[in-house]
Order: sequence, then structure tokens, then C-alpha cells
Amino acid sequence: MTSSVVFLVGPMGAGKSTIGRLLATELDLNFEDSDRVIESRTGADIPWIFDVEGEQGFRDRETAVLKELAAERDMVLATGGGIVLRAENRRCLQSAGPVFYLTASVEQLVERTSKDKKRPLLQVPNPEQKIIELIEQRDPLYREVADFVIDTNRRSPKSVVQEIVEHVQSY
Ligand code: S3P
Repeated sequence: MTSSVVFLVGPMGAGKSTIGRLLATELDLNFEDSDRVIESRTGADIPWIFDVEGEQGFRDRETAVLKELAAERDMVLATGGGIVLRAENRRCLQSAGPVFYLTASVEQLVERTSKDKKRPLLQVPNPEQKIIELIEQRDPLYREVADFVIDTNRRSPKSVVQEIVEHVQSY
């Protein structure tokens, strides 16, 4: 059993927070979501941070939070979809604990994010096209950091969590 941080990475709508919360309960670990930590440290929500500080400002905050939380123990950390963009973040993830890449079909990602107004990158005329572009750009980066790739398509959160638990226990 790991005593380090269990990381969940993957695109917006992959289910990182839902799965992460259930996984933490199952493994009796703490749960954090890097976006929520950034928001509480900043005292503002993600759209505000993007608006006022730009994506660069958000990414700086994200790297700082990742570095801090990666040093924790006994924690499941759901990360923002863009965490893998910076090489220093990827190095941090790879060295800190088991990393699970949650994948889902574009169709499911679109469906799960369609009513959401809190993801600045998807507030565009064609969010589906944006999701496709982001996956093309980021899939190799998620794979670079992942110890395990977990397909969430047409599966219950419970079944996904069970698969991850088995990997964590043999990690
Ligand atoms: C982002 C994903 C979001 C959040 C921010 C940027 C991205 O997190 O960090 O809106 O670049 O993909 P979720 O993956 O939790 O939605």
C-alpha cells in the first residue's frame, strides 16, 4: 500500500474528482482537488483567475500547489486537465506517486462538461472541437506521466475505483 500521493490526471470531464473522492474513501486517504485548493488559496474561482491573471497566472498557481501537495502523504489528488502541460509538473508527478490517467471518449467528455460554465477553456463556440484539440495535444503528455491508463467509458465510478484500488495495492 502506498503512503505517498495517488494522482489522477486526464481531460476535463474524465471524472477525476468523482472518482478521486470515492477512491480516497475506499483507501481511507485524504482527498484534494488541485483546482479547489487553488481557488481557496486565491480567494477567487477559476474563471476569475483566468480573466484577471490569464492562463499563465493560473498555471503558475497550479505548479505551486502541485509542488506543495506532491510532498504530502496518504492523499488522493485530482489534478486539473492542463497539469501535464509544463515539463516541471510532469517531472513532479512522475517522481511523487502512482499516476492514473483517466480516459473517456470525446462524446462522453462533451456530455459531462456541456452544462459547465466554470471551465474557461470550454467557453467557446465549438467546445467539442476544443476538447478534440486538447486531447490531441495532451494525450501523449498524460501517457508520459501515467503509471496506469484507466478507461472510464460506459463504466460505473465504482468499477473504475475498484480497478484503481487493485493497482494501488500492488504498486
Ligand atoms: C483545465 C482544466 C480544469 C481547470 C482549468 C483548466 C485545463 O480542471 O484546471 O479550467 O486546462 O484542461 P478540470 O480538468 O478538473 O476540469
